[in-house]
Amino acid sequence: MGLLSRFCVAALDLGTANTLIYVQGRGLVLNQASMVTLRESNGSVEAVGQEARSVVGRTPPSLRIARPILRGTIADLSVCGSMLRHFIAKARENLLFPRLHMAVAVPGHSTAVERLAVIESLRDADVTSILLIDNVLAAAYGGSMDVDEPRGRMIADFGAGVSEAAVLSLSGVVCSRSLAIGGDEMDAAIADYMQNRYHLLIGDRMAEEIKIRVGSALPLTEPLKTTAKGRCLIQGIPRDVIVEDGEIREALAGPVSHIVRLTRETLEQAPPELSADIVESGIVLTGGTALLRNLDRRIEKECGVPVMVDPNPLESVVTGLARMSKNLRRNHWRRFGNTV
Ligand SMILES: Nc1ncnc2c1ncn2[C@@H]1O[C@H](COP(=O)(O)OP(=O)(O)OP(=O)(O)O)[C@@H](O)[C@H]1O
Ligand SMILES: [Mg+2]
Repeated sequence: MGLLSRFCVAALDLGTANTLIYVQGRGLVLNQASMVTLRESNGSVEAVGQEARSVVGRTPPSLRIARPILRGTIADLSVCGSMLRHFIAKARENLLFPRLHMAVAVPGHSTAVERLAVIESLRDADVTSILLIDNVLAAAYGGSMDVDEPRGRMIADFGAGVSEAAVLSLSGVVCSRSLAIGGDEMDAAIADYMQNRYHLLIGDRMAEEIKIRVGSALPLTEPLKTTAKGRCLIQGIPRDVIVEDGEIREALAGPVSHIVRLTRETLEQAPPELSADIVESGIVLTGGTALLRNLDRRIEKECGVPVMVDPNPLESVVTGLARMSKNLRRNHWRRFGNTV
């Protein structure tokens, strides 16, 4: 038994919208919004995670909602550090092991500075050592894809801030592409549409709800409608507007086509032997945005290969990290200078 196995191994998916922590032997222990409520006067933390998310758009001027991760990278190191300290303390509750080894997913195309920011944000979070793992590789392991074989496999992770697509073989990334476009961009596109078409100002939460209720990437067999609640920019009063799936599809056309193009371009980059394998095995979509209605069918149509959505797209990265880190040896982990 290696020395590491006596310690506690955990996995962290630090996403633009959601942060998940998985602890070996205990499973998924934390699934929270990547949000913090701060007091404007002194920057003190008032609420973290779902609690902060529940007050989005409803805060008085004395409070501010911060999203420390934007487009998949840390935008505010100090707020991110506070958020992670809180989350990790919660994840450690009732944990016997004093030493925590944490595997963290990072976007494949993140820079050295962005990776360093992830390490720094965990410095005071009571973590002994960390290991950064490519997000798409983790997602593939989480989706139980057979990536250890010398065969081409393709995965695309569409999150809130980043979309990534990769071709994998022999447990490695052969080629990949990423784009800072995801669910957030779609929400913004819906808010813009409502403003331009109906002079209706809607909040971020409302835009996301509309996307989830009626959003799609291709026409639906059953038409859908929903009510958009906001403030009329002409009369200045609250107003409800009924919107249909076709209108929202039109609003989402830009971000959807960017994501589809990214997937297609990644497939085009694959060496011929591997693309022949992908024609058979297909492309697996994961990440919350993969749940957009008919996005799988749209990609299938434009890429000409079978496409399926991971059955657990919001958790695949963290479960994949946990699977990968199970068998790692001690020298794979990077220790914090004075924490051991
Ligand atoms: N049913 C749905 N239809 C469309 N979008 C959805 C659905 N459910 C969740 N989403 C979107 O998925 C996104 C969150 O996905 P996920 O948790 O994978 O992102 P993340 O990991 O936090 O972000 P990133 O990986 O980009 O940093 C949000 O934009 C959310 O609105
Ligand atoms: Mg993600």
